[in-house]
Amino acid sequence: MAQSLSGKKKVAILGAGKMGAILLQSFLRNGLLSPGQTWATVAHPERARMLKEKLKVHAGTDNSEAVKGADIIFLCLKPQVVADVVREIRPHLNGKQLVISVAASVPTEMIERAMEKEVPVVRAMPNTPCVLGAGMTALCKGKFATKQHLELATKFFDAVGRTVHVDEKHMDAVTGLSASGPAYIYIILESLAEAGVKVGLPRDVATLLAAQTTMGAARVVLETGDHPALLKDAVTTPAGCTIDGIMELEEGKLRVTLIKAVVKAVQRAKELAFS
Ligand SMILES: NC(=O)c1ccc[n+]([C@@H]2O[C@H](COP(=O)([O-])OP(=O)(O)OC[C@H]3O[C@@H](n4cnc5c(N)ncnc54)[C@H](OP(=O)(O)O)[C@@H]3O)[C@@H](O)[C@H]2O)c1
Repeated sequence: MAQSLSGKKKVAILGAGKMGAILLQSFLRNGLLSPGQTWATVAHPERARMLKEKLKVHAGTDNSEAVKGADIIFLCLKPQVVADVVREIRPHLNGKQLVISVAASVPTEMIERAMEKEVPVVRAMPNTPCVLGAGMTALCKGKFATKQHLELATKFFDAVGRTVHVDEKHMDAVTGLSASGPAYIYIILESLAEAGVKVGLPRDVATLLAAQTTMGAARVVLETGDHPALLKDAVTTPAGCTIDGIMELEEGKLRVTLIKAVVKAVQRAKELAFS
């Protein structure tokens, strides 16, 4: 169990939807936060009630109440509502707090401008596998955040997966690759499982083969540091089966399709907060 990072500090998680709730539950499970010190907000009272019952945290729809006296404030809101909520909580913000935003597309400068105060902001871009401690999060700091603020934010995300620090100019690229990425991989995985069914495997066996193979290949890349092309060559026996499969992938333009998917998602990430 990870050591509590925040001691008796008050932590607010504004927008405990899909990503916010994943982080909230994971931080509670890892012992980084205790229910008593954690305030969560959502838009709908019935969802707040559900969070309260399930996680025993303070939960409601009043962002100001959640932020009042809070030491760390997570913004897990949709990009389009971040500025409005920041303006709403502005009277309760001060320079001793740390704001950690996971909102896609929203620059730290936009949050700082909406706060009209010198409050430290760290921007983070996690992904949904944080739910199992297998997340990938990129972080960068805003104008008023120090190295210590970045380190504190990093410790939260280290507890739910791997982390990397990047220049803020790369955050939209991260969004299109690793934040959207699980969706691409699920489609690939689902397709491999369909393929298994097509060649006669029971669906559960086909899904297991596809998922374990995806995880195994990813682990080999991460743990050996070898180039994926080199690892692919090791599977591809001359005149064997794999090269026939690869020819189909090339004809179907899998590589260029994946590249274009990421490029499109990155373009969208550049405009989301401003739409
Ligand atoms: N999903 C991902 O894979 C992922 C990955 C990385 C980053 N993100 C970022 O995380 C953010 C949230 O995305 P999501 O997928 O988690 O969306 P989501 O499930 O729609 O969550 C948004 C949450 O915000 C709440 N909310 C809306 N207006 C509010 C307000 N004024 N005050 C307080 N709470 C409010 C909603 O409440 P109700 O539930 O009551 O409607 C909902 O719980 C986005 O900026 C996204 O870019 C998401």
